[in-house]
Amino acid sequence: MAEDTLTVTDNRTGREYTLPITDGTIHATDLRQVSAEEGDGGLMSYDPAYLNTASCRSAITFIDGDRGILRYRGYPIEQLAEDATFLETAYLLLEGELPTATQLQAFEDEVRYHTYVHVNVQKFLEGFRYDAHPMGMLLGAVGALSTFYPDAKEIGDAENRHLQRVRLVAKMPTIAAFAFRHSRGLPYVLPRNDLDYIGNFVNMTFEIGGRHEPNPVLQRSLEILLILHADHEQNCSTSAVRSVGSSQVDPFSAVSAGIAALYGPLHGGANEAVLRMLDEIGDTKNIPAFIEQVKAGHGRLMGFGHRVYKSYDPRAKLIKRVADDVFEQTGLNPKLEIALELERIALEDEYFVSRKLYPNVDFYSGLIYQAMGYPTDYFTVLFALGRLPGWISQWEEHLSDPEQKISRPRQIYTGEGERPYVPRARRG
Ligand code: CMC
Repeated sequence: MAEDTLTVTDNRTGREYTLPITDGTIHATDLRQVSAEEGDGGLMSYDPAYLNTASCRSAITFIDGDRGILRYRGYPIEQLAEDATFLETAYLLLEGELPTATQLQAFEDEVRYHTYVHVNVQKFLEGFRYDAHPMGMLLGAVGALSTFYPDAKEIGDAENRHLQRVRLVAKMPTIAAFAFRHSRGLPYVLPRNDLDYIGNFVNMTFEIGGRHEPNPVLQRSLEILLILHADHEQNCSTSAVRSVGSSQVDPFSAVSAGIAALYGPLHGGANEAVLRMLDEIGDTKNIPAFIEQVKAGHGRLMGFGHRVYKSYDPRAKLIKRVADDVFEQTGLNPKLEIALELERIALEDEYFVSRKLYPNVDFYSGLIYQAMGYPTDYFTVLFALGRLPGWISQWEEHLSDPEQKISRPRQIYTGEGERPYVPRARRG
């Protein structure tokens, strides 16, 4: 009978080792016994950018990148996008099960109770320059929350962790909305607890003179977008939250590290970069020349490609449908024509086909956010609002995993050997 083991021969010594295989993996620490000489520390695995290294066990999100499957806690993303609310999805990610009606009501009430931020958070935000990037404001303000809630350091207390998670879910939209108003020079609008989660956020961003006429289609579309972004297993920002959280810092600091990671153009910042790219292309007639530039290595086709998906990103498929609903309300975004043509040409081009590069979640989301009235530099903030439940679910899972310790990768040292200090006067 076949054994779940891997037998390897170290040709340096001729010694043979048998390593257990569990869940399709070998433990990197099992390689330490493979040693060529006394004191060499044993064999390490080298995996820059974690291309083939599982860093944790997780029961939260399942992705099959070849088949374009994404599930939260076992539930297909398509079904959640169709029927769930964002807070219901957040509860599912955080607690592992869909809430009963009573549980959902209790969670919504809890979140509603915590939507206000200390007035000093408002003052803190006022200190940013008028043209501050809203992601910079968000990451600064969420990090600053740790100074308002020093009790968040009690990360060994499960009840306390729950309270901080609720605070984050409740206060992020308020901070995000304040950042939006700040960049427009508009007075901040305080939370309205008679509205639902999405309705309150939209009201805080768009209310003028005490009035805002809600558009249920646009609000549901925004909610679907947030659901589609809610978790994506061990992506760059989630790994940042886990890694920073592994030092046992408070969750506000860990989440601000996630926001910082998301800010980058290869991650959440791609939705902003897509819009800038579409502006640069300007007209469908310029697409072939643009594609040639990308193929020649000058820049990337933003919103295309994914580390895990080697087929169509299931979120991008759903987002295209949301786009139809939104544009029916707002009129067509003129850049949609360029995006559709760009996609058509890229999907027929050998360069993109052979590398399995398909549109990802960021390719169409920016066009929708723009049609809803959000400025380009605000798109990643909306991504962060969506991703928050994932970050804090993964943070919680990490802290309660007995196999985890402080994150601390190894390295291959490539620098100089020991050499004596040269006094300044004698340096060439
Ligand atoms: N345009 C042109 N070429 C690309 C692209 C692209 N968007 N993405 C990958 N490639 C090429 C790349 O040059 C490489 O080619 P070669 O083998 O000839 O060197 C090959 O495809 C593999 O690329 P890679 O950089 O090794 O792939 P990766 O898994 O490290 O990168 C990625 C994944 C998402 C960072 C990358 O595809 C990319 O930069 N995409 C554009 C930015 C983007 O849309 N990011 C959003 C990702 S989804 C949402 C999120 O995570 O926030």
